[in-house]
Amino acid sequence: MANTILVGAQWGDEGKGKIIDVLTERADIVVRTQGGNNAGHTVFIGKQKYVLHLVPSGILRKRKTCVIGNGVVIDPLGLVEEIDGLRKLGIKTDGNLFISETAHLVFPYHREMDAQREILKGKNKIGTTKRGIGPAYGDKAARTGLRVVDLVNSSRFETLLRQKIKENNEILKAFGAQPLSFQNVHAAYRAAGDRLKPFVTNTVVLLHEAMQQQKEILFEGAQGTFLDIDHGTYPFVTSSNTTAGGACTGSGVPPHRMDRVVGVMKAYTTRVGEGPLPSESAEIADLLHAMGREFGATTGRARRCGWFDAVATRQATMVNGIDELAITNIDGLDSLETIKACVGYRVGTTRYDYVPNDIEALSKCQPVYVEFPGWQTATDKARRWKELPAKARSYLKAIAELTGARLAIASVGPAREQTIFV
Ligand code: IMP
Repeated sequence: MANTILVGAQWGDEGKGKIIDVLTERADIVVRTQGGNNAGHTVFIGKQKYVLHLVPSGILRKRKTCVIGNGVVIDPLGLVEEIDGLRKLGIKTDGNLFISETAHLVFPYHREMDAQREILKGKNKIGTTKRGIGPAYGDKAARTGLRVVDLVNSSRFETLLRQKIKENNEILKAFGAQPLSFQNVHAAYRAAGDRLKPFVTNTVVLLHEAMQQQKEILFEGAQGTFLDIDHGTYPFVTSSNTTAGGACTGSGVPPHRMDRVVGVMKAYTTRVGEGPLPSESAEIADLLHAMGREFGATTGRARRCGWFDAVATRQATMVNGIDELAITNIDGLDSLETIKACVGYRVGTTRYDYVPNDIEALSKCQPVYVEFPGWQTATDKARRWKELPAKARSYLKAIAELTGARLAIASVGPAREQTIFV
């Protein structure tokens, strides 16, 4: 399969969990390289639903090595809970899950700070998952964060945590929030540290040794291109590099060892949280929500929905270097008589063929649509390209062409078998 980076080409929730699971069959190692437990990757195997937040989706296949890379921010209590949950479902993690020594840690003060900053922002809030992701990456950039390597060193951890709690309690008090008890946080984190210690290693060395043995790696992206801290719709973004470059910095595998980039996108658009979404449409939101679709895997929030936005996905191809596309949730559009796709933005007489960086300009953008005839036939039973209705094939070919990458996978439902290789 060669080394493959998988990224979300929209605003997250593109159905990456399922595509990662499908591609994992041909990989030896699966690596998470950014984000934290703000992500929620849903995978169905038979009737069993798995929602993974930190552990790479590769864990659901036997004999795959899974790595949580240095670019991830880890809530140790959340990770222990996830490992225990997997174990209860009969999924093994011992000996096949590895955690980077240099990944940064998320603490309760990060979560509290996340929540307090959102309250302070009022109507300008970002709509974060409140998992403490922004403040944790903030500490990393400010060089004041604690890392996994500190967590597994008991005496150093105690000293560092004591300082951090003292300092952060002052900030929490200023926000009018409850200060944290050092003893409680320390006891819980020490227990989690003991549980996680057997998984902790130098994952950069592990990955390079694996490459010397010709092992193939899948880099599983979390969130999506327009939530990227540099290339997204700032400030309505997450705090990591969700685009292809993040796979290199978040794993220690250099760019020249990457062989291809797969971009995952829905046949329409969704977004959770605040921020502009030019092709947002009540028509498609009502349809999808009535079908019980488009509710967040991490927070359960109803996702905002819109028509397919080719301006955004074209830019995603550019920024990530997407070679191949996986288009998901095609069956969500089955009942529509007419399907729209946004091919440009307009503000007054100005036309944009790219996503403007100025958030105010972006929020004023009106979509320019082209229309496609709907296929009005169920697609969820299709297993081959030729079994899809001709109108569905035309639509998929058109949106891939507008995006500027080769259509490789079409997904017509959450199950592994509902996957068409084009
Ligand atoms: P944070 O990552 O919790 O700080 O949230 C920042 C923004 O990213 C918010 O709009 C979230 O809804 C969004 N976000 C974070 N993680 C995901 C995800 O996994 N899928 C979709 N949106 C996400």
